[in-house]
Amino acid sequence: MHMHKYEKIWMASGVGTLLVFLIVLGIGAFYQGTQPPSCMVTLDPQNVQAHEAFKEENLGLQQLGEKEYTLNVLATAFNYDFGKDEDGNNVKTIRIPAGSKVMFQATTEDVIHGFQLAGTNVNMMLEPGYISTLETTLDNPGTYTLICNEYCGTGHHLMTATVEVYEE
Ligand code: CUA
Repeated sequence: MHMHKYEKIWMASGVGTLLVFLIVLGIGAFYQGTQPPSCMVTLDPQNVQAHEAFKEENLGLQQLGEKEYTLNVLATAFNYDFGKDEDGNNVKTIRIPAGSKVMFQATTEDVIHGFQLAGTNVNMMLEPGYISTLETTLDNPGTYTLICNEYCGTGHHLMTATVEVYEE
């Protein structure tokens, strides 16, 4: 079968584009650890405290074992609630030893918020009525900013918190 030169060029570029797409997707999924959104567990957004993870006393960092943590976060406009410290002040900074496996577990009481830990593969959308979870290992020491990347109102740009990953 005879094929016109332009036809061949066109087919080659089609196959080439597909390969580039698959390579980009592969790097994102296997090297950078990008995961599809979880959002499979539901709860009542009007009463998030009914869920064990979002009870006042369970918010914030919970140690499960040697270098194994769960971080429960309740987002509201325009704050990430990590619970209170021993003095009764709101926790604004979370400190985690480098190399720890962390399960991020978050939800929102009001509107849609973002949950992106800049510089890591942690990036979730928080929707009222759903629990978003993502597990990752924080290997690189440093100070990371947790930012809301979904526009949620007038204080959206103020909605941040800090996660410090420290070398032991
Ligand atoms: Cu919360 Cu933007």
